[in-house]
Amino acid sequence: MSGLSNEVRYVSITLRSAQENLGFDVQQTLTAPIKSLPCKYFYDQRGMALFEQICSLPEYYLTRVETAILKNRAAQIIERCPTDLSLVELGSGSSTKIRFLIEACLARQQELAYYAIDISPGGLENGLRQLLQEYPQLRVVGLVGEFADGLSYLSTHAGQPRLVAFLGSTVGNFAEDEIARFFTMLRQELRPEDRLLLGVDLLKAPVVLEAAYDDSQGITAQFNLNILARLNRELSADFDLAAFRHRAVLNRERSRIEMHLVSVRDQRVRIGDLGLNIDFRQGESIHTENCYKYSPARMESLLADHGFHVLCRFTDPHDQFCLFLVS
Ligand code: TRP
Repeated sequence: MSGLSNEVRYVSITLRSAQENLGFDVQQTLTAPIKSLPCKYFYDQRGMALFEQICSLPEYYLTRVETAILKNRAAQIIERCPTDLSLVELGSGSSTKIRFLIEACLARQQELAYYAIDISPGGLENGLRQLLQEYPQLRVVGLVGEFADGLSYLSTHAGQPRLVAFLGSTVGNFAEDEIARFFTMLRQELRPEDRLLLGVDLLKAPVVLEAAYDDSQGITAQFNLNILARLNRELSADFDLAAFRHRAVLNRERSRIEMHLVSVRDQRVRIGDLGLNIDFRQGESIHTENCYKYSPARMESLLADHGFHVLCRFTDPHDQFCLFLVS
């Protein structure tokens, strides 16, 4: 490692301009026969703040349970990784959960490089600055952009070996073809001595799952609707947020929670910057996100399909959530 610096270094790894991506993606997804929006656009500044609130909601057990597993098991996880490790986190947000892994690493090595990849620069900043203050032995690099660009940056920049943490059940937000592409890409970027730590929410009672995505305070509803506010602001659209309703529903055949924004009436929405009018029928929905839920066996077989081998599983006492340590 080439000496420590006590400042966070940021690298923008986004290839096209963010605005160009947003406009292009929205045009594609809202003019399709079944309307949807890409979930990565949830995370503007307000979206990040709302998501932080979601993480501490009573109904949203995921963050609490995963954090507890990490807290209890970090030392065992690190023990099963090679020494002189670097840490990489995909979708690090405010970088709160990673501190347990950081501490376990620093109990074993003098210094540590931590690469945090996230689409939201605002979300990264506070968390990373705080980590540096707490752990002077840390070198922190914030990579702002998408996972694919972050990983290809790391293939030439990060030291080896690496532990890549992909927490929060974010892998559950990928459809089957996206998982396949993602695992294939990871497989190409990772060397035999690297490790992957994958946080996965497990299948459980429908009422528990649906409540986690439709809380009684309506924070998740605000989070979902915020994507329309973003289009209003960034693409000069005129969505009436009161004319769409948040809906979270379990699709049992596909083992996923679906998030929708349902039009409460027939309406036409103008997206100024794209020169586009979009018509909605009453009850028609914009599908904004899927959160797939897995059995441990199903996730292990998906990993195996892509050449990964599960070294260890860590779960909570109620088998709500699972961390897979993978080589
Ligand atoms: N990936 C997490 C999950 O599936 C976090 C998340 C993504 C989320 N989108 C969300 C949580 C929308 C609540 C609502 O749970």
